[in-house]
Amino acid sequence: MEQYIINGGCELHGSVPISGAKNAALGILPAVFLCQDTCRIENLPQISDVHNMLDILSSMGAHIRYLNKNAVEINTAHAQNLPTPYEMVRRLRASYYLIGALLGRFGKAEVALPGGCDFGFRPIDQHIKGFEALGATVQITEGGIVQAEAKEGLVGDSVYLDVVSVGATMNIMLAAVLAKGQTVIENAAREPHIVDLANFLNTMGADITGAGTDVIKIRGVERLRGCTYSIIPDQIEAGTYLALATATGGEVTVTGVIPKHLESITAKLSEMGAEVIEEDDSVTVRRSKNERLHRINVKTQPYPGFPTDMQPQFGVLLSLADGTSILTEGIYDNRFKYVNELRRMGAVATVDGRIAVFEGVEHLSPAPVRAPDLRAGAALIMAGLVAEGITVIDEVRYVERGYEDIVKKLRAIGADIRLVSHPDGEMLERAN
Ligand code: UD1
Repeated sequence: MEQYIINGGCELHGSVPISGAKNAALGILPAVFLCQDTCRIENLPQISDVHNMLDILSSMGAHIRYLNKNAVEINTAHAQNLPTPYEMVRRLRASYYLIGALLGRFGKAEVALPGGCDFGFRPIDQHIKGFEALGATVQITEGGIVQAEAKEGLVGDSVYLDVVSVGATMNIMLAAVLAKGQTVIENAAREPHIVDLANFLNTMGADITGAGTDVIKIRGVERLRGCTYSIIPDQIEAGTYLALATATGGEVTVTGVIPKHLESITAKLSEMGAEVIEEDDSVTVRRSKNERLHRINVKTQPYPGFPTDMQPQFGVLLSLADGTSILTEGIYDNRFKYVNELRRMGAVATVDGRIAVFEGVEHLSPAPVRAPDLRAGAALIMAGLVAEGITVIDEVRYVERGYEDIVKKLRAIGADIRLVSHPDGEMLERAN
C-alpha cells in the first residue's frame, strides 16, 4: 500500500512548474485515431490516467514512441478497431472519448462504460444524443458495453446539449470532424481543454470554429494529417498549488500557466485575503500564516465559473476561514466525501446534498485519512501540510492519476512529504 507521510505546519516558498493539462491530454490522445500519419504530442503530463490511455491505444495497435519524458510520437495507421476491455477503461472516465474517435475513424466503436471518480450518477446520455444526431445507432449491452455504429457513415447535424457537458462536447467534436457536412453543437461547454482539443484537431486540418463559446461549428473534412502539438498547462494543477500556498502561508509562484484560465480561482483566493500577482505566464500567491483567511461563499459551475475540480481544495481553505462559509456543488450530486476525512482533522462542517457549510477553525490537526478521489486527495495533502505534526494519507493512487511529480514539486517548495510503500498500513495508522 502506498501512503503519503506529511509533516505539516510550515510555510511554503518557491516556484512550481505546471505540467500539461490532464483533461486536454485525455481528449487529444484518442483523437490521434482520426489521422493515419504520425502525431507528435508535447507537454504530455506523466500521470497514471495518461499512461492508462496510452496503454489502451497501444493495445489497439497504435505505435507509440517516447521522445522524452513529456513528448510522444503516435501513429495509428495500422490500428485495429478492437473492443476496449473493461479492465483497461474502468479507472479512466475519459475512455469514453474512444467512442467518438473510433466512430469517426472506423464508423464503429465498442467501448466498456467508463469508470473514473465516483461523484454519484454520471450518465453519458448527451454523448449518445450527439452520436445519434450524426446518424449512429448506439446501444448499451447488459454487460455495460457501449456499441455504436454508423453503417452509412456519419453526417453532420445540429445537437443541443441538455446539460453543459465537457465530455459530450469533446466527444461529439471527435465524431464530427470527419463526418459529411456541418455539425453544430449548441449549449457547448467552454473549458480551456475544449479549445485545446479544437486547436489540436484544427492543426491536423479539421475545420472547427467557436470552441470556447457555447456554439461550436464543425465542418467535416476528408482527411486529417499528422502534426506537432503542445498541450496547454493544467488549470487545476496550477489552482491546487495556489490554494495550497494560501492555506499554508508563504509565497509560491506557478510557472508556465495561462493566468486567464485561473481567474475564477485567483479571484476567490484574493477574496479570502491572499495577495495574488499575475505576470504573463505565471501567478504568485503570497500570504502571512499569522492572518486568518476571510470567510467566503463558493459555487461550482461550468467554465468560466468556478471549477468543480477545485471544490475540495477550497473545502480546506473554508475550514480555516474566520467565520461561516457555504460551498455549493453545482455540477455533481456527491462530491463531498472528503468532508468526513477533514472532520477527522478537526474541520467543523456539515453536508446537505450539494451544499456544505464550514464553520472555520483556527487549526487543523493531523489524523490518518484516506483519499476518496483525485482532487479530494489533493485537498487532504493541503490539510496535512497545514496541520502541525504527522498526517498519513492512504489510497494515494488516486492522486497519482492527475498530478505529475507531486511529491517532488512539493518538496521543492519546502513541504515535508514522502511517498512510502508500506506493507502494513495499519501500523502507521495506529502510530498517529
Ligand atoms: C470532465 C472532467 C472532470 C470535471 C468535469 C466538469 C475529464 C476526463 N473529466 O468530466 O475532471 O470534473 O468535466 O468540469 O475531462 N452529464 C449528463 N449527461 C451526459 C454527460 C454529463 O447528465 O451525457 C452531467 C454529469 O453527470 C455532470 C454534468 O453533466 O453532472 C457535467 O459533466 P461533464 O462536464 O460531462 O463531466 P465529465 O466530462 O464527465
